[in-house]
Formats: sequence, structure tokens, C-alpha cells
Amino acid sequence: MPSFPPLDNDLLLRTARGEATDRTPVWMMRQAGRYLPEYRAIREEHDFFEVVETPELAAEVTIQPVERFPVDAAIIFSDIMVVPEALGLTVEMVSGKGPTFPEPLTSPDEMDRLVEPDVDHALGHVFEALTRTRQELEGRVPLIGFAGAPWTLMAYMVEGGGSKSYRHARAWLYRHPEASKALLQRITDVVVEYLCGQVEAGAQMLQLFDSWAGLLGPEAFRTFGLPYLDEIARRVSDVHPDVPLVIFAKNVHHGLDALADTDYDVISLDWTMDPEGARETVGDRAVLQGNLDPCALYAPPESLRREVQHMLAGFGPHQHIANLGHGMLPDHDPEHAGVFVEAVHEHSRQMRTV
Ligand code: CP3
Repeated sequence: MPSFPPLDNDLLLRTARGEATDRTPVWMMRQAGRYLPEYRAIREEHDFFEVVETPELAAEVTIQPVERFPVDAAIIFSDIMVVPEALGLTVEMVSGKGPTFPEPLTSPDEMDRLVEPDVDHALGHVFEALTRTRQELEGRVPLIGFAGAPWTLMAYMVEGGGSKSYRHARAWLYRHPEASKALLQRITDVVVEYLCGQVEAGAQMLQLFDSWAGLLGPEAFRTFGLPYLDEIARRVSDVHPDVPLVIFAKNVHHGLDALADTDYDVISLDWTMDPEGARETVGDRAVLQGNLDPCALYAPPESLRREVQHMLAGFGPHQHIANLGHGMLPDHDPEHAGVFVEAVHEHSRQMRTV
């Protein structure tokens, strides 16, 4: 393992482990990205995957929000699509459309096209970016690594891109249940190796993004979602028991109780979930993260502060990592992101003095 500067601000890690702290830690999903003019300036010179694949650029972009806002974490600049790429599929980032697979998996026979990747080779650029970023952060805040969850990645690999319903991918689950499980298992094996590699390269917490989990019904989630999420947490925490694991399974109201029984330390809630209700379901089994509606950032600062105060009150002062319920949006005003972060600092301190 490379050696790194000591960590000055470990609020995020202590909270993720369930310790009481004197303020609620805060970061934002997709905190590096197009709403920041300094990111857009880099993107004028380099295309998306070039930034992802160039450790110097990825490190610079990862640190941009840390320079601008008093956030308590950095999240490595990359994309969940690097795993399907490592498995041998071509992914293009099409402006206005998002990630697109020119040749998606249209039937189980096509799984022959997938390769068994040498993760260190195929994803070495991410590991290098993590190591470099952790050095350049100089211990200011912890560095988060991440991956896409098996079902969310399968949804893109089969559908070929973004979609409202992912009907082709969901059709696979019913038409080809065994092939679907085989595909999910192949993705799982790569994700486990990839996440462990990220820790060895410098990641101090890991988040799994299951952005499309909410498209599965409760039964399908129990069959095609949860077992793989559970396996990933077990296998990664076997190797790295001290690294907190976060699961963001968007819109999975029915799955909270089961997720709390897995090895994830933190459950990240989207904005449709009720903090008090989630706390009641989860109890002490996991720390909660979230969950302000990203659209609350469009409100005038005074209303935004009230929304933050209300959200913090719902979660209570401990076992909570403040975040949005989904990612920053390209037309967000960076000043409002600053208001969000400062409001968490201010109100979460106040909550502890009353
Ligand atoms: O700051 C961070 O959070 C780190 C970087 C990060 C990106 N993507 C960079 C990115 C992270 C954590 C992701 C995760 C990701 N990528 C998810 C899971 C989280 C979620 O939002 O649900 C998903 C589903 C993707 C796939 C993806 N990548 C989509 C749907 C898109 C297009 C939509 C969009 O936001 O533009 C991307 C592109 C992408 N990934 C951009 C960024 C900054 C914008 C690309 C650009 O610069 O043109």
C-alpha cells in the first residue's frame, strides 16, 4: 500500500462507524461535474473518458469541489460505466444522452462477447487516480471510491443506454432468469475485485450505486438485486473490514429492512424516503445518508436553509451523513451548493447544543 498524509478531518469515517460527532458530515453525490465552471473549463479541452482515464485530470476534478466548499469528503472522479468497459463492451458518452452502448447485449448468447478482465490492467487508471488524489488531498478529507451495482450495470448493458423503464433489461429477468443470474454474478466478481483494488489504491470509504434498483419489484429485488449487493459487501468487508461501505439503492422503500441486515455500514436514502420512518425501520443496524431533494437547491437560499434544517431534524444529530437524495444537476448554481453545505454545518452544530 502506498503511504499517505495523515487525515485531518475524519468526521465522515467516524460517523460511518456509528460514533457520535460534534457536527454532521456532509458531501454531495456528483459534487464534481458540469454545474462547476472549473469542471466545464477542463471539459472544453478534454472529453469525458479522457478525464476519467488521465489520473492528473481525474485528481484535479475530484478536488475542485473540496477547494470550493467545506465538504467532508471527496469522491473519485470516474463513472460506473468503467466496469462494463472492462468486461469488454464499448461505451460512448453522448452529449445530451448520457452513456450509450453501440452494441448492447441483446440476448444471452451475446454474453460470449464479455471478457474476464485483468482488473489491475483494465482499471489501473482509476487506481492511479485514487492514489494521486489521496496524495494531493493532503489529508484534508477522506476519499470515497465507488462502483455501480450489478443490476444497474446490467440494465445499461442490456438496454444500451438510459431509459425510463429499462424494459429490455427487465424482460431478460423474466425470459432468461438463469442467464441474468450468470451475468449479475460476472459483474459481481469484477465489482468485488475492483472495490478491493480501490481500497488498496487509497479509497477510505466505498459507495455502491444501485440507481435503478427501484425499477425492480420486491420479489425481483430479492432475486436479482439483494443477493449480489449482499455478496459484494460480505466479500469486500472480509478483505477490508475497516473500510465503511455505503449502499445507495434508489427508490427501494421495500428493501430497507433487508439492506440493514447486510454488511453495509451506511444506507443512502433518496429524497422520496422519510428519514424518521427509515430510522425506525433500520434502527441501530446502519447509519443513514441523504436525502435532500436535489431540486431544493433551486430554491432561494432562505428556503433552502429551512429545507436543510428540516431534513437534519428528521434524521437527528447522530448516525447521519448529510447528502442529497441523488446527484447534483448540471444547471445547479454552485452558490446554492455552498448554502447547502454551510447550512448543514450551522444547523447540525445547533442541534447538538439544544
Ligand atoms: O462527483 C462525483 O460524484 C463523482 C463522479 C461520478 C460521475 N458519475 C461522473 C459523471 C459518479 C459517482 C457517477 C456515477 C454514475 N454514473 C451513476 C450513479 C449515480 C447516479 O447518478 O445515479 C450513473 C447512473 C452513471 C451513469 C452516467 N454517467 C449517466 C446517466 C451520465 C449522463 C447523465 C449526466 O449526468 O450527464 C453520466 C455522465 C457523467 N458521469 C458526467 C459526470 C460528471 C457528465 C458527463 C460530462 O461531463 O459530459
